[in-house]
Amino acid sequence: MAIDKRFDPGRSSAGDLAANRGQEGYRASVRTTAGRRAGVLLGKGHSREACPAAFRKQRQAAQPGPRRVDPELLNLLIDDLDSRETVRKERLSYAGSMKLVIDTDARTLAVEEAGKQSVSHELYGRDAFAHISRQWVRAGWSLRYYHGFTWMGLPVLQLPDDLVRLQEVFWEVRPRLVIETGVFQGGSLLFHASLCKALGQGRVVGVDIDMPASLRETVARRDVGSLITLIQGDSASPEVLRQIEALRNPDETTLVLLDSDHSREHVRRELEAFAPIVTEGSYLIVADTIMRDLADVPGGEPSWIEDSPAAAVDAFLADHPEFERVSHSPPDGLDDLPDAVSYWGGGWLRRRACRQAT
Ligand SMILES: C[S@@+](CC[C@H](N)C(=O)[O-])C[C@H]1O[C@@H](n2cnc3c(N)ncnc32)[C@H](O)[C@@H]1O
Repeated sequence: MAIDKRFDPGRSSAGDLAANRGQEGYRASVRTTAGRRAGVLLGKGHSREACPAAFRKQRQAAQPGPRRVDPELLNLLIDDLDSRETVRKERLSYAGSMKLVIDTDARTLAVEEAGKQSVSHELYGRDAFAHISRQWVRAGWSLRYYHGFTWMGLPVLQLPDDLVRLQEVFWEVRPRLVIETGVFQGGSLLFHASLCKALGQGRVVGVDIDMPASLRETVARRDVGSLITLIQGDSASPEVLRQIEALRNPDETTLVLLDSDHSREHVRRELEAFAPIVTEGSYLIVADTIMRDLADVPGGEPSWIEDSPAAAVDAFLADHPEFERVSHSPPDGLDDLPDAVSYWGGGWLRRRACRQAT
């Protein structure tokens, strides 16, 4: 959205732009081409985050006198508003702007998508579950819901749903070697090692570019610490791959989980680097494929539409028919509900048996 008026002290009218002296400074009210009014405080109360350029200018400027408006300051404010408005609009269109209306009396969920006719779903049905779950996941991510969990006392930055699903895959595959890139504070490594211990087989290798001595000490002190090897370095670098080669037995069932740098380029490099060591029937799992769907939520970035793990997975699969994307299948006899509560949707890749590869 473009701002239709630049501030001109000679011509601006109250309808276009007004500036009043308030307790904390000036309040500017700007009308945009779409008729939206935006009010922003200038002067002492103006924040660096809300309007950085105006903040800098305000810092440089002498305290303005009564009813004097600094035109340059206001034009900077308009520029900031303009760019923030553009970002806001982009974010909305990325999300495919949507309105959900829950009617608990009628037991319906009405879904209104921009440019489409409203669709009504049974509130307690599969489609409504998928829509509501998606928004729940997005809101929870924005509130850092996933920061609220630990495993054996160490933070694990995952949704419990994904961890239980991962346990199902361990049960199915019975890996002898589990490699995780992106260790953070070690909770996820302890989780994998706990599963190995419970299954009576398997060991875990964790790779992180940042490996404080305290992390090594903490992990080593745990009951399952003897099952864990830590490697420091860039997970897609030849040095790290050489170290993994040195400790790996090619005959052992190997499962890889990628959760380090989430840029498309890095994840693609990791996928290419680790795919060859994932054994038949086992998994190459890419965490945080959800990021593409978080581009517009608070804390998300518009660039994540293209620059995030999901884009890397799509490109990888197009070149690697030996891997297939797998979705969750529930235990026998239960409905196959949408895989909606997950950060890893579309990121579960299974290596086909050789004879299946096309
Ligand atoms: C999302 S956290 C990992 C969370 C962890 N897997 C868990 O579930 O608790 C990402 C980690 O990746 C690491 N990292 C970032 N870039 C990396 C790279 N190029 N190579 C290896 N690790 C990297 C960071 O240091 C950080 O600890």
